[in-house]
Amino acid sequence: MDEYPKSVELKDGSMVNLRIMTDDDLDDMISFFQSIPDEDRLYLRSDTRNPDNVRRRFGNLNYDNMFPILAIAEDEIIGIATLFRAEFGWMRNLGEIRVVIANKYQRKGLATILIRELFFHALSKKLYKIQAELMDTQASAMAAVERLGFHKEATLHKHVTDVRGVRRDLVIMSLDVEELWYLMEDHIKTRDFRIH
Ligand SMILES: CC(C)(COP(=O)(O)OP(=O)(O)OC[C@H]1O[C@@H](n2cnc3c(N)ncnc32)[C@H](O)[C@@H]1OP(=O)(O)O)[C@@H](O)C(=O)NCCC(=O)NCCS
Repeated sequence: MDEYPKSVELKDGSMVNLRIMTDDDLDDMISFFQSIPDEDRLYLRSDTRNPDNVRRRFGNLNYDNMFPILAIAEDEIIGIATLFRAEFGWMRNLGEIRVVIANKYQRKGLATILIRELFFHALSKKLYKIQAELMDTQASAMAAVERLGFHKEATLHKHVTDVRGVRRDLVIMSLDVEELWYLMEDHIKTRDFRIH
C-alpha cells in the first residue's frame, strides 16, 4: 500500500493517478457508478444507480477483505478495480477481481494496468488464486483478463440472471498466483501472510 498514490501512463499518453479508496470517496463513487452507461451496467452485480447499493458495498472499508484501487483523472474517478477476499474460511486464499472503467477511458489499457496492480497485491498477500466471474456474453472482459494470463476454469450453465431477466452462463476465469510467488522479493517470501 505504501506505493500509492502513483501515476501511470495510458496508451494514448495521458496520465492517470492511482490510489487506494478511502471512506471519503464514497460520494464520488456513487456519482461514478451513476455515470456508467446501461450497456456496461448490464454486467455489474447489483443496480449501482441505487446509492444504497454502492454504500452497502463500499462503505466501512476493510482492506483485508476488500482492496479497491481508484483511477483518477481531472479530479474525477474514471475507473475502479477491487480485489475481494474472505477473511477466513476455506476461500480465504482466493481473491476475486472486479473492474469498471468509465466509457470515455476504455480501450486505453486502464483495466490492464489496474488488474496488474491487484495481481501484485494478491501476490504480496500470498493468495493462492485470483478469479473473475463473468457472464458468457462479456467477451471484452474475458479478452482483457486472458491477456494477463487468466484462463477459463469453469462454466456454470444458466447460473446467473442478467438485468433483463435472461438466464446466462457464468464463466470463471482464474489465475494461479501461488505458482508465481517466486516473483516476490526474498524478505516477503520468508514471511507468512496467510490468514489462519
Ligand atoms: C471490460 C473492461 C473492464 C475493459 O476495460 P479497458 O480499460 O477498456 O480494458 P483495456 O484497455 O485494458 O483492454 C485490454 C484488452 O481487453 C480487450 N478488450 C477490452 N475492451 C474490449 C472491447 N470493447 N471489445 C473487444 N475487446 C476488448 C482487448 O483485447 C484489449 O486489448 P487491446 O485494446 O490492446 O486490443 C471495460 O470495458 C468495462 O468496464 N466494462 C464494463 C464492466 C465489466 O464488464 N467489467 C468486468 C468485470 S471483471
